[in-house]
Amino acid sequence: MISNRLKSLAKYFDKDDKVIDIGCDHALLDIYLIEEGILKSMIVSDIHEKALKQGIDNIKLHKLDKKIETRLGNGLEVLKTSDDIDTMLISGMGTSTIVNIIENDYFKNIKKMVIQSNNDHEILRSEIVNKGFKITNEDILEDSNKTYINIVFEKGNSKYNKNEIKYGPFLIKNKMYLDYRIDYLNKILNKIPNNKILIRHSLKKEIRFLNKLKKNI
Ligand SMILES: C[S@@+](CC[C@H](N)C(=O)[O-])C[C@H]1O[C@@H](n2cnc3c(N)ncnc32)[C@H](O)[C@@H]1O
Repeated sequence: MISNRLKSLAKYFDKDDKVIDIGCDHALLDIYLIEEGILKSMIVSDIHEKALKQGIDNIKLHKLDKKIETRLGNGLEVLKTSDDIDTMLISGMGTSTIVNIIENDYFKNIKKMVIQSNNDHEILRSEIVNKGFKITNEDILEDSNKTYINIVFEKGNSKYNKNEIKYGPFLIKNKMYLDYRIDYLNKILNKIPNNKILIRHSLKKEIRFLNKLKKNI
């Protein structure tokens, strides 16, 4: 069964997107995308043989091996220009791995990225926007007591201020996100000793700022 975390990514795809799922592992989202008719076919890949094997077994179980092609390898290195892929799906990976993956020649063919990174969303936004992408969607969700953030990037230019890169141009207007961020900062603040005045001051300032944003939604 597919988790709500994975299912939440399905809505970002259009049927004409030519998709690679990098780091597919079990390939459960990919099977869902094809079975629901959201995509007609796709390529999925993983750097680890054992992980990809799980995906291959699941794809075979669902009799989808004609529609989902599997490749073993590192990031975009598994693609050739003739593959005609223009959309990248990456979920359950850290930002530093994602940033390494896009340092590849094939990246110039990519028009859209659907990403559920585990961490460092500010760096992710900054790196991808600097490569000529705009942010066209963002979402926050909870699944099994964990919080996840989805970000969709599409080729194009848009100007973002510092706060939009830090919190996200959509998430900065999202009450659930602001509550999550305030809660996270309060947890850090509670661990900082009273004599660390500067750190405590800057955390409190950020919490006040986020509370103000929340009031204006
Ligand atoms: C935590 S799993 C996430 C699986 C699935 N995408 C999900 O969200 O449930 C991360 C997967 O990414 C793969 N991976 C990590 N670095 C990779 C890279 N550079 N290229 C391809 N796959 C990679 C790992 O082997 C692992 O199977």
